[in-house]
Amino acid sequence: MSGKIITLTRHIIEEQRKYPAATGKFTDLMNDIAFAAKIISYNVNKAGLLDVLGETDNINVQGEVVKKLDTFAHETMVRALDHNGHSCALASEEEENVIEIPDEYPLGKYVVAFDPLDGSSNIDANVSVGTIFAIYHRVTPEGRPGTVKDFLQPGYKQVCAGYVIYGSSTMLVYTTGNGVYGFTLDPSYGEFVLSHPDIKTPKKGKIYSVNESYYGFWDERVRQYISYIKQVDGDSGRPMNSRYIGSLVSDFHRNLLYGGIFLYPPSTKAPSGKLRLLYEANPLAFIVEQAGGKAIDGERRILDIVPEKLHQRVPLYIGSAEDVDLLQTFLKGKHPSQKAAK
Ligand code: AHG
Ligand code: MN
Ligand code: MN
Repeated sequence: MSGKIITLTRHIIEEQRKYPAATGKFTDLMNDIAFAAKIISYNVNKAGLLDVLGETDNINVQGEVVKKLDTFAHETMVRALDHNGHSCALASEEEENVIEIPDEYPLGKYVVAFDPLDGSSNIDANVSVGTIFAIYHRVTPEGRPGTVKDFLQPGYKQVCAGYVIYGSSTMLVYTTGNGVYGFTLDPSYGEFVLSHPDIKTPKKGKIYSVNESYYGFWDERVRQYISYIKQVDGDSGRPMNSRYIGSLVSDFHRNLLYGGIFLYPPSTKAPSGKLRLLYEANPLAFIVEQAGGKAIDGERRILDIVPEKLHQRVPLYIGSAEDVDLLQTFLKGKHPSQKAAK
């Protein structure tokens, strides 16, 4: 047999060996996330068969209808992560407050924020969905339960960020700040196997992803950018190609591999956009930067934003470096075509 098979566990253990002070708790934590991902993957894949589709009567903290699978994924993540002594608190899109570790279990030095099921409004139509997570070191004193303070850290402090995409195959993509690695779940062995080592995103891409039905609610500068990238001009590679699934993990993952830009701008209807800083924008921003791309809220680097609230929303422009740079030129009103338009 040629080559070596690198499982997720092996990859993490080999990475952790580079740090003599590593206690193994991070390895445990990642194994628990991978375990939760396998359970969610299994259930997402047989969703229509199990009568788990359809809406529950609950409204989540964002005021959105919660699908049954959202609840299932949330509970799976909590149950997988609350007892192994690596974390002192958890935070989920589906829970308004910080989730405490039950008294009977030990407390650890990490906190994990997650979107248990992203893109779930599309799940009845068999569209790919995902799980997104961000891991931080706690900042409150050890030995006591973690608090919201542990989560209100800027994204550049993430110890690890990742997502799982439940698509035509299930993949787990993560970074600890040493590049981005993608693992595909082998369904016969139930193992995540390294399939995408050291992912780099193209410097410039062809794809733009945005919900264009909000065009009339955007700032003029965003509209100018979108009009510009749709113009026909073979020399500069325009028009760009439109792709929008409406499932952030799926839109992001495709653009990461192929190159391009994902936009969720502010609008008159949603002045801070829709996406959440802690468990959507920050983890994907860490990954995209590690892959050579960029992520901004229009003015600031996403990873520099100091969160004020657990469920804070943030405008998001994320993707290939040159595409994000061009967008920023438009947001500053400094693109030559904007001057010509005046
Ligand atoms: P979630 O399912 O976790 O609530 O996230 C949904 C998000 C995200 O996946 C997607 O990019 C966005 O909603 C789509 O929003 P629009 O329908 O406004 O385009
Ligand atoms: Mn989401
Ligand atoms: Mn969600």
